[in-house]
Amino acid sequence: MNAVSSTQSAVHSGSRWTIADAMKIRTDDPTTTMPVIDYAFPVIDSDVWQWDTWLLRDIHGKTVTFKGWYVMFALVADRAATGDTAEGWHSRNDYSYIGFYYSRTGNGADWKFGGRVIKEGANSRSWEWSGCAVMRENSANTVDLFYTSVNDTPSESVPSYTTGRILADATGVWFEGFDVCTDMFQADGVNYANIVEDAYWDFRDPHIFRNPDDNQIYALFEGNVPGMRGNFTIGSDEMGPVPPATTVPAGAQYGAAAIGIARLTSDSTRGDFSKWEMLPALVTALGVNDQTERPHVVFQDGLTYLFTISHHSTFTGNSTGPDGVYGFVSRNGIFGPYAPLNGSGLVLGNPSAAPYETYSHFVDPAGYVQSFIDTLPQPGSADPQDPTTYRIGGTLAPTVKIVLEGERTYLTEVHAYGQVYAQGVWPTSSAFDKRS
Ligand code: FRU
Repeated sequence: MNAVSSTQSAVHSGSRWTIADAMKIRTDDPTTTMPVIDYAFPVIDSDVWQWDTWLLRDIHGKTVTFKGWYVMFALVADRAATGDTAEGWHSRNDYSYIGFYYSRTGNGADWKFGGRVIKEGANSRSWEWSGCAVMRENSANTVDLFYTSVNDTPSESVPSYTTGRILADATGVWFEGFDVCTDMFQADGVNYANIVEDAYWDFRDPHIFRNPDDNQIYALFEGNVPGMRGNFTIGSDEMGPVPPATTVPAGAQYGAAAIGIARLTSDSTRGDFSKWEMLPALVTALGVNDQTERPHVVFQDGLTYLFTISHHSTFTGNSTGPDGVYGFVSRNGIFGPYAPLNGSGLVLGNPSAAPYETYSHFVDPAGYVQSFIDTLPQPGSADPQDPTTYRIGGTLAPTVKIVLEGERTYLTEVHAYGQVYAQGVWPTSSAFDKRS
């Protein structure tokens, strides 16, 4: 990938996360590594497993409180349904729905679980997977919830949305509506692989935002490079500037992750998020990694920071890296070109002593990063992956803070479990701006 250049114009050019970039990934660098979590971590609500989490925010990305309440949404599964066991945790995707929590302080110690958000039966497919929740501009309490509507048979994964209202009083927060779900767009096989091309295709996790440069609304999402799975030629563009005599590693061609983008063409002021123009991917990881999940964006200091989560297990060829959050930065706005943060792309990875302790990191506009605890090895355990001794999480990890300095990021602070911070109070002063 080229260094960020302020002179290149970047219309939908697409940037690459190359094999050479990934060679620079260093596990356990203290500036890009999550702290080892205490084996005795607290659990927010032990009736549910909690994993991918997102906060109530505005269309510009700012986390907002509503009537003095912090509000978070998360994928949850009832432990009574899955079983309160390691097997139950690992089967959670088959029971997944979007739940919500609220808190006066934003601290993990007093989050209260509020139940299901989308009316039962409104989602026409089996499961609800990740997305985002956005306060509607020019509205006092309308929330547009974007999520992934997922089915097993037939296998489907469709970014979708549903709308409702948030209500609150001194005792808590509740919702109305969320009883009609609408598909946004599907993998087209042209810009993004569909199931015909790739039986393991990923197409999910819509993240909606208003782009400060053109004031248009866009969706980021997880996709794959279009084409038949494994049938890609990994050439010098995908390799990048590798050391002499480096050859294409076996299996590299199975890495085909893409950070997708689409532009809204229907009228958001009427709450219509049903029509989108599919655009070519912002960043592709052909030859490097097969999954770039939950992509999201932070605008800071005139730079555009694109973050995405990825797994150790989805790197391909000889590339390797920890489970964690990776990122890219552009000086030319959302369409890039992008350079990998810290030279390698790694922003925050799990420590090698606890390689699967956290996942699904989400970076907010102030640099606070939330994630959930996955499996935490017993201290001193010979095998961190030993299911008889690791402790299952299913709750939020300590929040950490990173600072973004140009093409570099640094871990600087560790906060409480499930701690969140807001950058605004709804309605924010910009919420009722007539910007479009
Ligand atoms: C990330 C993720 C998302 C998906 C959800 C399903 O942890 O894999 O891409 O929407 O979890 O549980």
